[in-house]
Amino acid sequence: MLFNNLHKERPFELFHDYYARAEEHGDKFAEAGCISSVDKANQPHSRFVNFKYFFEDNLIFFSNYESHKAQQFEANNKVSVNFWWPNLEVQIRIEGIISKCEEKFSDEHFQGREPGKNIAAIISEQSKEIESYELLKDKYQAMKEKVENGEYTESRPEKWGGYQIKVNFFEFWEANDDRLNYRECYSRDGDSWSKFFLQS
Ligand SMILES: Cc1cc2nc3c(=O)[nH]c(=O)nc-3n(C[C@H](O)[C@H](O)[C@H](O)COP(=O)(O)O)c2cc1C
Repeated sequence: MLFNNLHKERPFELFHDYYARAEEHGDKFAEAGCISSVDKANQPHSRFVNFKYFFEDNLIFFSNYESHKAQQFEANNKVSVNFWWPNLEVQIRIEGIISKCEEKFSDEHFQGREPGKNIAAIISEQSKEIESYELLKDKYQAMKEKVENGEYTESRPEKWGGYQIKVNFFEFWEANDDRLNYRECYSRDGDSWSKFFLQS
């Protein structure tokens, strides 16, 4: 995850410190967070995504704008995210409001990705049913050949791009002996942040 123009308030700096420590301690998938969204029928859904940037006060990942999660974000823009870094025994809970990133930002990120990943982003109708995994691989291979022989130039499809979560809540949880765990929380309160502790 890249940190860019991160807000100077304490919870953002704390998140940055914990993230750096998780990487130092060898947590290989530190950028993976489980994001939960709620659909029109109030059913929650959770899945992991890779958070690629923390820009100002926004946590950012990339996905398909027609996927199940995309439909849920349309229905309800309130989301939560959970990071678990086992080597540190730290959990960080985040809540916020999700929206799409600017197109230019998504274009730039797309251009910097490995070509193979971009081919997958182009061919996949994420979350739609398909008869078999083999069919998905056939779609991928057909597009790969088109790109390789110059019939198709890789460019960001409109259906794929960034999502940013403007964070309004953090909980920093650290495991401790006898389940007397440490829970330090921050809640956005207008332009400032309220700090409080919760019992384990
Ligand atoms: C560690 C990990 C990282 C993932 N990163 C992403 C990601 O950055 N973007 C994405 O769209 N899906 C990612 N996925 C796949 C999602 O978990 C999910 O299967 C997919 O986005 C479809 O979700 P949906 O049907 O709820 O829209 C990741 C899965 C794992 C296990």
